[in-house]
Amino acid sequence: MKIDAVTIFPEYFAPAQLSLLGKAQNKGLVELQVHDLRTFTSDNHNTVDDTPYGGGAGMVMLAEIWGKALDPLMVEDTDLIVLTPAGKRFSQSMAAEFAAKSHLIFACGRYEGIDDRVRQHYSSPEYQSKNVLVHEVSIGDYVLGGGEVASLVMIEAITRLIPGVLGNPESLIEESHNSDGYLEYPNYSKPQEWRGIPVPEILLSGNHAEIAKWRALQANERAKKNL
Ligand code: ADE
Repeated sequence: MKIDAVTIFPEYFAPAQLSLLGKAQNKGLVELQVHDLRTFTSDNHNTVDDTPYGGGAGMVMLAEIWGKALDPLMVEDTDLIVLTPAGKRFSQSMAAEFAAKSHLIFACGRYEGIDDRVRQHYSSPEYQSKNVLVHEVSIGDYVLGGGEVASLVMIEAITRLIPGVLGNPESLIEESHNSDGYLEYPNYSKPQEWRGIPVPEILLSGNHAEIAKWRALQANERAKKNL
């Protein structure tokens, strides 16, 4: 999978070289390229934003600069993901959908967001005929300083679902057995007793059917408590 991220803070993506995602890049399973939006400016101040038409607080990122940055990346079969708190909520099922794609672009907005004409332009029939899809995505009901951290969250959730990225694919199979797509039951490892708290007996029983039943029950209890 090819991933492009466009941002005014390329340094935010340094952690992408670590752990699973770093290894996935070394193995050639993921090719991540980070682009500095400011390199597409042409004034002395490298301006990327201006005041909003209609007034109001904050600044809006300029369509002209975004167009210059995105045009060369907009090849056939591309999913452009625009990070915004007003977007559709990111989920495990959305991660699975994106994991099956060949090319993702993450557009990291700052300030009050990107001039809406950027979204409109790349959603036009011209791009639709090239199988370019535009998605506005939010990672949760809170406002971040920009889309960089949200992009990292999405990239990590998506790339770990690409075949070959996880060292032990068994963990994906186990996750997929759970309707919500993630592990919810409590886990224990050695020692059998820690600070007076024993590991639940059932986990030492070797009875896999009973363990699965117990775990499902625990997952249910936990989900109810954290709702
Ligand atoms: N940019 C600012 N807040 C965000 C959020 N919650 N999700 C995605 N992008 C954002």
